[in-house]
Parts: sequence; C-alpha cells; structure tokens
Amino acid sequence: MSSPADRPVVRILTLFPDMIRAVLGTSILGRAEKQGQVRYEVTDIRDFAVDKHRTVDDTAYGGGAGMIMMAPPIVEAVEAVRKNDEATVILTTPQGRLLDEDLTLDLRNELETVGELILVCGHYKGIDERARELVVTREVSIGDYVLTGGELPALVVTDAIVRRMEGVLHNDESANNDSFTDRREGGLDCQWYTKPPEYRGLGVPAILLSGHHAKIEQWRAAQAAERTRIRRPDLVAPDPGGNGNDDADG
Ligand code: ADE
Repeated sequence: MSSPADRPVVRILTLFPDMIRAVLGTSILGRAEKQGQVRYEVTDIRDFAVDKHRTVDDTAYGGGAGMIMMAPPIVEAVEAVRKNDEATVILTTPQGRLLDEDLTLDLRNELETVGELILVCGHYKGIDERARELVVTREVSIGDYVLTGGELPALVVTDAIVRRMEGVLHNDESANNDSFTDRREGGLDCQWYTKPPEYRGLGVPAILLSGHHAKIEQWRAAQAAERTRIRRPDLVAPDPGGNGNDDADG
C-alpha cells in the first residue's frame, strides 16, 4: 500500500470544517480514505484571516445587501496548503460550469495526475473577484439553484470524483452501468429490483428471473434507452439521418 504522502489528496477549504469532515468520514468516501485510495485534508479558511478578530467577510464596495468573502484569507489558505502549483483549484459557485460525468472524469484525472485537487467553498454572497483571479483555476456549479454555501457542492464534487477512482467501488457497487456511463450510451440507467419477488401485488419482470444473462442485459439496455428517451430526451443524440425536427412548420 502506498504511503499516505503518495496518495492523491483532496484539500477542502471551508468555513465549516466539521460539516465537511462528518461527510468525508462516512460510507464509501470514508472507506476510500481508510483503504488508502485517497486522502482528505480539511482547512478552516478562518485560520488564514489577517486580523485578530479572524474576519473572513465584509460588506461590498459600492453597497448592496450581502457579505462578500475577503480575498486575503482565501488566497493565503490556498497558497499555504497547495503543494503543487499545477493543482486544480476549484471554486464551487452557481456561476461555474455545470458538473456532469465528463467533467467529473476530467477532475479525477487532474487529481490523479497532479496528486492534489483543491476545493474552495464559497459563502455569503460570493468571494472577492481578486481571489478568483489569483488562485481559482476552475469554477463548478452543481445545478441551477442557489445553496446557502459551497460546502454541499464541494462534497458532491468530491463524491462524484472519488467514486470514479480505481478500486473505490467494490464489484457489487460498480459504476460501469450507471446513468451517464458509456455502457448506457451517456443516458439513464434501467430500473432495478431485489427481493421479495412480490410486494403489495407488484411482481418483478419475468426476464430478470430467467437466469438468461445475455437476454437480461439486452432487456436492461432497451429499458435504459427507453427511460432516457422519455425522461431525458436532451441526452439522446439527434438521429443523423433524420431532420431531428418535430415542429410541424412545413
Ligand atoms: N454555491 C451555492 N450554490 C451553489 C451551486 N448551485 N453550485 C455550486 N456552488 C454553489
């Protein structure tokens, strides 16, 4: 097993370190660290405040409601924890690029190539633009809605990345046929069933009890494609032969 210093490290800079640690220590994310596939380091941005009151935010120049996170604590914190100047520094913000499985794999590759990935959790109304300019290399959003802070998004990004690292998911948790994977042609996964075989009058599709693995996989692929077509038509590639236009405009 690699020594702790050799493992890829995800560093999370936050005003709420306990919130981050509680999640990173739990379930598959916690197991990944215990197994030595990844390491987490959580840093309190407040430790890098430059005044004795440990101030990390202030009102906006020019006025307006809401507090702004100051640049110095963020910049000093990133520079203190970063071991490699090539490390990706992500700011979680609703203004960032929307997280999807492609971006997740890019971030995982950056983590594994450089050995570290830094996530800065924004808070209050936003962060001083100069902190972005000085240290942030990527901005990531987890959806078109606004949360109270960047901690949950940073945890979402970390979870999405770590579960795609080699060996983190055990065979029975395999990510190969999840939604958005190549196996599902970038679309949604199919429906799944487990025991009991009947519940409140509802059974299980007979094919799944047939023991015919090739036919079961065919059925699953067809169900997944149908679900994708109905629920997420935006994920279905337009038919290159057709005109791809349902509008009856002549
Ligand atoms: N911070 C607040 N809302 C967010 C979002 N939707 N994505 C990323 N960071 C955020």
